[in-house]
Amino acid sequence: MKNKTELLNGKIAEAQLGGGQVRIDSQHKKKKLTARERLHLLLDEGSFEEIGMFVTHRSNEFGLEGEKYLGDGVVTGFGNVNGRLVYVFSQDFTVFGGSLSETHAEKICRIMDLAMKNGAPLIGLNDSGGARIQEGVVSLGGYADIFYRNTLASGVIPQLSAIMGPCAGGAVYSPAITDFVLMVENTSYMFVTGPNVVKTVTHEEVSSEELGGASAHSVKSGVTHFSSANELECIQTIKRLLSYMPQNCEDPAPILEYEIKGSEKRPQLSAILPENTNQPYDMREVIEGVIDEESFCEVHKNFAENIVVGFARLAGKSIGIVANQPAYLAGVLDIKSSTKAGRFVRFCDCFNIPLLVFEDVPGFLPGTDQEWNGIISNGAKLLYAFCEATVPRITVITRKAYGGAYDVMNSKHIGADMNYAWPSAEIAVMGAKGAAEIIFKKEIAEAKNPEAKLKEKEQEYMDHFANPYRAAERGYIDEVILPEDTRNKLIRAFKMLENKVDKLPRKKHGNIPL
Ligand code: HXC
Repeated sequence: MKNKTELLNGKIAEAQLGGGQVRIDSQHKKKKLTARERLHLLLDEGSFEEIGMFVTHRSNEFGLEGEKYLGDGVVTGFGNVNGRLVYVFSQDFTVFGGSLSETHAEKICRIMDLAMKNGAPLIGLNDSGGARIQEGVVSLGGYADIFYRNTLASGVIPQLSAIMGPCAGGAVYSPAITDFVLMVENTSYMFVTGPNVVKTVTHEEVSSEELGGASAHSVKSGVTHFSSANELECIQTIKRLLSYMPQNCEDPAPILEYEIKGSEKRPQLSAILPENTNQPYDMREVIEGVIDEESFCEVHKNFAENIVVGFARLAGKSIGIVANQPAYLAGVLDIKSSTKAGRFVRFCDCFNIPLLVFEDVPGFLPGTDQEWNGIISNGAKLLYAFCEATVPRITVITRKAYGGAYDVMNSKHIGADMNYAWPSAEIAVMGAKGAAEIIFKKEIAEAKNPEAKLKEKEQEYMDHFANPYRAAERGYIDEVILPEDTRNKLIRAFKMLENKVDKLPRKKHGNIPL
C-alpha cells in the first residue's frame, strides 16, 4: 500500500507542477499567477475539490504523444466563495499555453454540466492561446461544446469569466456569452483576430494591448464589464459580484441582515440638484445617498458613462440600479448606453434581482451617426428589456423625463410597479424651447419681436409641463416625494413588492431586436 500511496502522491505533485517550474517562473515574471494560485485566492480556504486532475490529452499528432501533462492545461472542480458553492475552471498557461484540446474542453464541459444540474454559479479563469493547434478540428469541436453549454446555462446559473492572459480567436465567444467579463490591465487581452492578421487585412498597425487590452474593452467596446489593476483585484471583484447574486434562477437574491434605523431620512439628497435645470450633477451622489452605505458595485463603469448601472443593497436586499447620468452627455440615451443598460436589466430579471431606476434624461441622442448605426433597434433593446422584466421595478424621476426616453426608462406603461417623482421633475414630450418653436411657429414668426415671443411661449410650455403634476394627475406618477424621503419610500415599496408574481405570455422565447 505504501508504494501505491507514494505513486498517488507522486502523480498529485506532478499534476500540481503543471508545465514545470521553468514555465511557472516565466508566468510569474509576466506578473501573472498560476492557475492554482488563482483558485487559492478565489476559493475559501480548504474548500477546493479538484475533478479530473490526471486527465491527459489523446493526441498523437506532431509529436504530442511524447508530451503529456497531468490535467492537460486546465484545473477544474468545485469549492466555496464566502461559504457558497461555485464551480470553477482555471486554465494553466504553463501547459501548451493553456490551449484548448479535446480533453481540456471535456473537463470544462463536465464542470458546466455539474453546475447546471446542481444550480450553482460557474466561474471561468481564462488564460489560453486558443485552440490546441496540433489537434485541429477536435479542438474547434471542444470550443463549440462549451459555447453550447454557456448558452443553455444562460439565465439558469450566473456565469462569470475572468480574462487573465491571452484570449484569442474563437476563445473569446465563451466569455462573451457569459454574464460578466472581467479583465486585468496590461496582462490580458481578447480579440477575434490578432495584430498580425489585422495588419495583413486592414494595414493597421496596432499592439495587442491597444487592440484588445482591458482598456480597449472596458472603455471602447464594452466587451468587458470590469477592468482591474491586477489579478488580486480581479478576483476580489468576482467575489464581490457574486455576493449580490442568487445561486440560480430559482433562488431569491441574497439578503444581508439589516435593522431599520429611525426614519431613514437622507437630508443630503435635497442638496444635490443644481438650481439651473440645465446644469449637470453626478447621479452617483443620488444613488449613494439612497442605498445602504458603500454597497454600490458599479458595472461597466468606464463604458457609455451617460448611463450608470450596478448592484447595490437597500435595507440589506440586493437590487440592480439603472440611472441616467446628467454629468455625462447630459444623460442622453444613445446606442451604447441603451445596450449597456438593456443587458444589465436582463441579467437582473433572469436572477430575481429587483430593479431601481433613477431618471434624468433629455431624450435620445440625435444625429446621422446614431441613426445610421441603429439607435432605433438599439434603443429598442432597452425598451424591450424593461417591458419583459417581471421582477419588482421602481422608478424615481429626479429631473427630466422627456420624449420616448420617458417611456423607455421603466415607465408605468411598460410594467413598472411604482413610479415616484421629485418636485423637480419635468415630464414632457420635449424640451420647452423646441416645443414652443414647433407649436407656436406661426405666432412667433408673425410677432413684432419673434425672440421675445419665443421666450414667452417657452415659459408657457415650461409652466404647463416642467413639473410632475400632469403625470401625477393621470396616475403615471404614484407619488411626488421629497428627495430626503426617497430611501424610506423605496424600502417600503420594495418590501410591499417582495412577493410579486408576474408572468409573460406563453411563448418559446421572445425576439429581442438584436
Ligand atoms: C498549442 C500553444 C498554443 C496553441 C501557445 N502554445 N499557443 N500550443 N496551441 N494555440 C504553446 C507554445 O508553443 C509554447 O509552448 C507555450 O504555449 C507558450 O507560448 P509562447 O508563444 O511561448 O508564449 P507567449 O510569447 O506568451 O505568447 C502567447 C501567445 C502565443 C500570444 C498566446 O503563444 C500565440 O500567439 N499562440 C497562438 C495563438 C493562436 O493563434 N491560437 C489559435 C487561435 S484560433 P512551450 O512548449 O514553448 O512552452 C482559435 C480558433 C478557435 O482559437 C475557434 C473556436 C470557434
